[in-house]
Amino acid sequence: MNKLFLSLSLAALFALPTALLSQQPQPQRTTIRSGELWPDDSGQHINAHGGGVLHYGDTYYWFGEHKSDWTSDALVGVTCYSSKDLLNWHNCGVALSVSDDSSSDIERGCILERPKVIYNPTTKQFCMWFHLELKGRGYDAARYGVAVADRPEGPYRFLYSQRSDAGIWPLEFSSEHQAVLDTLGTFHYQDWTPAWREAVDKGLIVKRDFAGGQMSRDMTLYVDDDGKAYHIFSSEENLTLHIAELTEDYLHHSGRYTRVAPAGHNEAPAIFKHQGTYWMITSGCTGWAPNEARMFSAPSIWGPWTQHPNPCRGPKAEITFGGQSTFILPVGDQYIFMADIWRPRRPSNARYIWLPIEFEDGKPIVRWQEEWTFE
Ligand code: DGJ
Repeated sequence: MNKLFLSLSLAALFALPTALLSQQPQPQRTTIRSGELWPDDSGQHINAHGGGVLHYGDTYYWFGEHKSDWTSDALVGVTCYSSKDLLNWHNCGVALSVSDDSSSDIERGCILERPKVIYNPTTKQFCMWFHLELKGRGYDAARYGVAVADRPEGPYRFLYSQRSDAGIWPLEFSSEHQAVLDTLGTFHYQDWTPAWREAVDKGLIVKRDFAGGQMSRDMTLYVDDDGKAYHIFSSEENLTLHIAELTEDYLHHSGRYTRVAPAGHNEAPAIFKHQGTYWMITSGCTGWAPNEARMFSAPSIWGPWTQHPNPCRGPKAEITFGGQSTFILPVGDQYIFMADIWRPRRPSNARYIWLPIEFEDGKPIVRWQEEWTFE
């Protein structure tokens, strides 16, 4: 048999069940089952990874990275799904498309990760921020990108990408701190020694990147009760988290920022506030492989931030149930912990973990449940 015919027939055979499935009316979902395929209302597994959820009006909008079958590079862009009940989702299409213009920062084939959207009631704009790596440069660019739309589902218009807070020191860097910084030079240290860690803590890498801007990778957004918004991201070679206040239009950094857990190596920040305390869940840095979640709390977004033990409970709690945090969604008086189970060999087959946050002795915990639903 002709080889081309054989492969086309096989492709058709494999495509058939999905095509048939997608034409069938889908049964309503009544529960959440983390780690399984999560079909949208057309029967296709939801493709919105590293994402976050915006609640606007009576609808939830889930934004995430579109992943293809064979690469994690962005070949499509940011997808958007909508739902009234957080269980049954409708695919609204591509909210932000990558570009075929080779001069665009978001050229097809770039790395575009962890998109989050917040709504600005003053400008009436939906503001999307994401981690951006320029095409062909691996993870070197370490930028954030910003896009806007006048409807939640988009289309979003890309505005700019850059590193963070060039020429600005963190809020806590006093003049004494500056004097210590003057004594630090990268050439003095060997990576991963205690002396190097101490120097990172004091601002070795902030100083290195001061002129060109601080690195900006894994990220989330948070809007506080007073309407002020914050961009929280892994900076300084993923060694230190930064929390940067946004301008009133939510489109830029205001220039006020602080550092969290210097030299602590945190990625995947997800944050919520409960009874006046800010809680942040993060991961360690092990690429696509899962690791143990970390948790921090603070009485103010500006700190001081205190680290607590791993909040996960149950099977595989020591590796975040096989996932990595991406977002914490408040729903009524509940909070939903959202994470990704990455599948780097077939990125589109990555799965989602959604679990309710419980409180034990006043601290959040995330307990594994095979199946659950909203109260
Ligand atoms: C871990 C990050 O959290 C992901 O978003 C992604 O950047 C991978 N690393 C890449 O290895």
